[in-house]
Amino acid sequence: MCGIVGYIGNKKATDVLVDGLSKLEYRGYDSAGVAVFDEEEIKVRKYKGRMAVLEEHLKEEDLKGTIGIGHTRWATHGEPSDRNSHPHTNVSGSIALIHNGIIENYMKLKEWLIETNGDHFKSETDSEVIAHLIDYYYKGDLLDAVYKAIEKMEGAYAIGVICKDEPDKIVAVRKDSPLIVGLGENENFIASDIPALLKYTRDMYLIENDEVVLLTKEGVIIFNELRQEVKRDVFKVTWNAEAAEKEGYEHFMMKEINEQPKGIHDTLHRRLDKDDHIVLDGIQLTKEDLDKINKVYIVACGTAYNAGLVGKYAIEKFAKIPVDVEVASEFRYKEPFIDDKTLFIAVSQSGETLDTLAALREAKRKGARVLSVVNVVGSSVSRESDDVFYTWAGPEIAVASTKAYTTQLVSMYLIALHMATTKGSLEEAEYKKIITELKSMPDKVQKILDDTKNIQQIADENFNHENAFYIGRGIDVNVAYEGSLKLKEISYIHSEAIAAGELKHGTIALIEEGRMVVALATQDRLYQKMLSNIQEVRARGAYVIAVAKEGNKEIEKVADKVIYIPDTMDELTPILSVVPLQIFSYYIAVARGCDVDKPKNLAKSVTVE
Ligand code: M6R
Repeated sequence: MCGIVGYIGNKKATDVLVDGLSKLEYRGYDSAGVAVFDEEEIKVRKYKGRMAVLEEHLKEEDLKGTIGIGHTRWATHGEPSDRNSHPHTNVSGSIALIHNGIIENYMKLKEWLIETNGDHFKSETDSEVIAHLIDYYYKGDLLDAVYKAIEKMEGAYAIGVICKDEPDKIVAVRKDSPLIVGLGENENFIASDIPALLKYTRDMYLIENDEVVLLTKEGVIIFNELRQEVKRDVFKVTWNAEAAEKEGYEHFMMKEINEQPKGIHDTLHRRLDKDDHIVLDGIQLTKEDLDKINKVYIVACGTAYNAGLVGKYAIEKFAKIPVDVEVASEFRYKEPFIDDKTLFIAVSQSGETLDTLAALREAKRKGARVLSVVNVVGSSVSRESDDVFYTWAGPEIAVASTKAYTTQLVSMYLIALHMATTKGSLEEAEYKKIITELKSMPDKVQKILDDTKNIQQIADENFNHENAFYIGRGIDVNVAYEGSLKLKEISYIHSEAIAAGELKHGTIALIEEGRMVVALATQDRLYQKMLSNIQEVRARGAYVIAVAKEGNKEIEKVADKVIYIPDTMDELTPILSVVPLQIFSYYIAVARGCDVDKPKNLAKSVTVE
């Protein structure tokens, strides 16, 4: 979703803004712009298209100003266009504003502003309303005008505002959209996300909901909604800027696929003591806590939801506790059976997904205890949860989740195993066997990554399909969902995943000569059944790419192509079988000439409903 950056200091603002915005490109956008206080006026430059378009225009003139705001827009209200892009201004151009989020009552506010001041709106956006509203309340005090404006606004927003008549400050606000402040020496920053500022500082303030921030060159003051000053500890970012760079890879996605052995290793080993017991450091999952729980709800979106499905399998299998898994956008508007005996697990890489956050709040309201599985330290989901189980994937920049998924899987297994051993539903010997196998996962994933020629070749031979089906049984079907999502989101091939046994109840009608079917056949227990399903589609002309455990030569007789994964216990195959599917999708997307890291219409962090 939209990215925002603001700068006040001694550097040329456009340099900092462009640099910061380029680090937020992964969030997804269709236009970019800046507003800079330069030669006693606010100059706005904004264009539809990629950052490069903005950069080209900025090269044509020398904006020397040292205070400014910048924005990458992901269109919600109004088409992607120059005039709908941010920053937006008031009529005279003395106030400029950037906004991430959605103003739900903007129509009402717009009508009221038109009645009061006449129709001076230049765009179709909800955001422009905020600039006019601040202007309406402006009587020489920007901070006061912003406070009055946000009283009237409903919805989600992170905003940054500058004013020609008070050129020594930026005012920023956060409500349900991410906002951080970067702290420098004689310079300060705002941004939607940490990577935008890492080149300049690792000292940050994580801004809370309903807080208003006043930034000058010399300092930063945070106020609460009652206009009282609040103290905030400095958050020190421990990872470096290189972690968010491509480091020689053509795309972030491939870099992140290759970082999976490390992510899996780190996520696992941070939670194991020297005797391989799981250490949860304060996370409330003791025997007494578990005795109070009669149900687990896992709620998430997209890839994180797919990881939640594996979590359900693991918790039910090892800990014998019933689990419901729900997509967050549906959960919110249902009437889920949740009470103080429910453990609610929110899974989110970014920790900023609005649907997940809203579901979490709903669960808390109903009395559930909330444990989140989150990658981004200090994100909204992590802050609003009772307990946090961090994944150690490191920053994930590509829109398509890869290392977030595998580290979420490891986290779900650890949570399930901890519940099982605490409750006594798993024998120590079985536990040891599983942990030993989990510890071998980084090497086994590495083995897949060390030889991807076969996968690339299959992708190169099949990139021109327009439809694909992913099938599997048992835990394999959960990986089929993730493989299918990966393919469609980055290659734009229509793809559908289905439990193999369900094919004959409808979907098999779509299987015809040459139809691509990716069949996961890694489950020993269900293998014969899966083989029959593969034969069913083959009999109707399907082109079958099977994923199987190494050593399974039989499958070569029924599938057109086979991709092997190292042998492992059935319960843990998702950590391995998803990897070739990620690589397959990647090479297909590359062969189709797609923008792998920034697929059209998608955003990394989905901060609107
Ligand atoms: O940041 P989150 O894990 O909450 O994001 C949820 C989904 O938007 C996300 O997993 C999305 O489906 C993936 N980027 C797809 O690869």
